[in-house]
Amino acid sequence: MKTYTGQSLREMYLGFFKDRGHKVIPSASLIPENDPTVLFTTAGMHPLVPYLLGEKHPAGTRLTDVQKCVRTGDIEDVGDERHCTFFEMLGNWSLGDYFKKEMIPWSYEFLTGEKYLGIPSDKLAVTVFGGDDTLPRDDEAAALWEKAGIKKENIYFMPRENNWWGPAGLTGPCGTDTEMFVIRKPKCSPTCNPDCNCGAFLEIWNDVFMRFNKQADGSFTELSQKNVDTGMGLERALCVLNGKSSVYETDIFEGAIEKISALTGKKYGEDEETTKAFRVLLDHTRTATFMLGDEKGIVPSNTDQGYILRRIIRRAVRYGRKINLPEGSLAKISEAFIEYYQEVYPELKINREKIAEELNKEEAKFTKTLQQGLKEFEKCINGIERKNAFMAQSNPDYIPEKKIGGKQAFHLYDTYGFPVEITDEMAKERGFEVDLEGYKAAFEEHQNKSKAGSEQKFACGLADHKEATTALHTATHLLHAALKKVCSPDVQQKGSNITEERLRFDFNLPQPMTAEQIKAVEDMINEVIAQDIPVVMKELSLDEAKAEGFTGLFEGKYGEVVKTYTIGDFSKEICGGPHVESTGKLGKFKIQKEQSCGSGLRRIKAVLQ
Ligand code: ALA
Repeated sequence: MKTYTGQSLREMYLGFFKDRGHKVIPSASLIPENDPTVLFTTAGMHPLVPYLLGEKHPAGTRLTDVQKCVRTGDIEDVGDERHCTFFEMLGNWSLGDYFKKEMIPWSYEFLTGEKYLGIPSDKLAVTVFGGDDTLPRDDEAAALWEKAGIKKENIYFMPRENNWWGPAGLTGPCGTDTEMFVIRKPKCSPTCNPDCNCGAFLEIWNDVFMRFNKQADGSFTELSQKNVDTGMGLERALCVLNGKSSVYETDIFEGAIEKISALTGKKYGEDEETTKAFRVLLDHTRTATFMLGDEKGIVPSNTDQGYILRRIIRRAVRYGRKINLPEGSLAKISEAFIEYYQEVYPELKINREKIAEELNKEEAKFTKTLQQGLKEFEKCINGIERKNAFMAQSNPDYIPEKKIGGKQAFHLYDTYGFPVEITDEMAKERGFEVDLEGYKAAFEEHQNKSKAGSEQKFACGLADHKEATTALHTATHLLHAALKKVCSPDVQQKGSNITEERLRFDFNLPQPMTAEQIKAVEDMINEVIAQDIPVVMKELSLDEAKAEGFTGLFEGKYGEVVKTYTIGDFSKEICGGPHVESTGKLGKFKIQKEQSCGSGLRRIKAVLQ
């Protein structure tokens, strides 16, 4: 049997398709550009969505690549033999070029050809779309497989839930597929098929025949062109081809496994618990390394991608603790991955320092509270157990309560940094669960309280009167004025909120701002800042202020006399203040986000750098 390394399989795959007229394109970022419905690139097709929809790709209509992907839906299964949150996907695309009658024979050739994978054809099984109310079964695909050399008995027609793929996010290109499996051992029963998880069939590749576009309302329209999207998960394919039982037993993980052994004195495979801890550490450190090292790199935070990253690092720390991994080890393990991948993904080498720094920072942060948090968690479980024992004494029919309250879970998050998913997983290990609804309620209550606190204290959306917020407050006036000039004189402030870091400004505008408008607003404001224009306060009666053309935001809320602020001939607003003395104090104004915040409403988040 041949033995493959990650690199030999990558090269063989790309080479095969290059020889068949495909251009090799580089992997795109892990952060999707064109799909706000998902946080990460989840499949090779993801970055290519515009081209699958018909846009012209600069490299042509036949493409092949290895795409880095992240799927975190099954994060709690990581630790078993095959789940990974990060993986590489080998793929090839037809953008309105070839279709089934080319792709199926190529797949067969690559899988069985002596120059390629050389799998005996009687060791291969395939599934094809079995048909339903809306689409007929894919007899064409089945016939092509049979003609290529797959035994008829190894061709399975399966329902939509097995042989339909996509879209990658909530909307977009999708279609029926045909999946390929290596037959590892005899079927477990006469009805056993590739969907059975007895281990007889191991999936290796998937060809999607993309003819449809899923709309936001759930309906499907026909695409203007027929595409092919194929995906072969590199780790899984290596594991199957090398006859291994686990994806961790590939050359990809060798260096990192040695590192963990050196750091802990433990051996991968020495017992079940240790092996699981190794796997979680391997997977999570690798994923964190790729997230931090991505060209659009992210850092741990409490929202969106940053939260997933934080959760992954913290879960790694928790598992590391089970095998006495010393603090500061994640960065060392990640070094092994950077070594391994640096040729294929040079961004890891470029961001080497950042990766180590962020891993160390996050690890230190969590380690500081982990010990205490675990104690608190134990207290919580013991408290519930005591109550259960007490109740059972007086009532033999009492059903023990095995639920950690939402408030307690929130306390573990807020005070000890335990993402609720980690608390939930720890609870499950003890036969408990977390009241996730209650957690959500506690979380929201907390958010609302802090928001109400700041709104009650100060006017004009100020959180406090520190210098930073004063500057952002003045910047808000400039933004308001610039939007009127650039977008429309009808723009009005609909909401404002300022923290020490950023301003948030809501306003009416029926369509998103264009990139040009965003830039024009930024440039205009930075020009006013560069001119260091004085900010002049004058007290006027409300009527006078109106007559002089000041913008009044909360009319009626003000008393007879109001404060007005004038910034040259750029901005005139009624406001309670405070403001900086002159615009030169502001630094550089930068819009970070422009997004919808309701029908006909836009929201800008901006900072002063
Ligand atoms: N996009 C297809 C998959 O991820 C090929 O399986």
